[in-house]
Amino acid sequence: MRVVLPKGRLYQEGFRLLGEAGMDMAPHKDRELISQTDECQVYKAKAFDVPVYVEHGIDLGVSGTDVLLEHGSDVLVPLELPFGKCRLSLAMPEWNIREPEDLDGYSIGTKYVNIVSRYFQDMSVDVDVFKLNGSIELAPSLGIADAIVDIVESGSTLKANNMVEVRKLMDISAILLVNRISQKTKYHEINGLVRNIRKVIKDGY
Ligand code: PRP
Repeated sequence: MRVVLPKGRLYQEGFRLLGEAGMDMAPHKDRELISQTDECQVYKAKAFDVPVYVEHGIDLGVSGTDVLLEHGSDVLVPLELPFGKCRLSLAMPEWNIREPEDLDGYSIGTKYVNIVSRYFQDMSVDVDVFKLNGSIELAPSLGIADAIVDIVESGSTLKANNMVEVRKLMDISAILLVNRISQKTKYHEINGLVRNIRKVIKDGY
């Protein structure tokens, strides 16, 4: 079995859950991107690349609903996982707060260009959405964005950067991704694993 886990916040939880579900996985050593046991290879990838790997042939992955929606990857999602709960929100500097409906002509920095463009198109609000890759909260302070759309968990990053959460766009959760072909060719292994994960969650993970 080949599994891809995201670096960062979902890695530890993903590794632990799959382990508790009976998958024999080796932890990655420092800087190592592939770990191997007799049973499986585990890859450590950038969070935004996980759905891409699963769509293109890796059997399983752990990702977030946000990343999957942004990419629109053609993968199966058999399970929502009990971690990675947060939200994707529009935030603005506390010195210039507007409602999303009033943002015509405003600029928005985000990692989620597709989700954000669709959101404002649906409201017929004409905003300039541009892509940033991290530390998004910096952009309004530097005067290069009027607003941002980013992940909010505790809210402390926004607070520390004098920003206010104006509107939630969506709730986010970790999810299990399965490659469409693997679901057929490794039917018993994958179904067994999904059953085990369900049981681990039900027993109070
Ligand atoms: C994420 C997100 C926010 C922060 C939100 O950043 O982009 O910056 O966490 O969490 P909080 O509400 O608990 O403060 P991450 O640490 O993943 O790094 P990044 O800024 O490079 O994306």
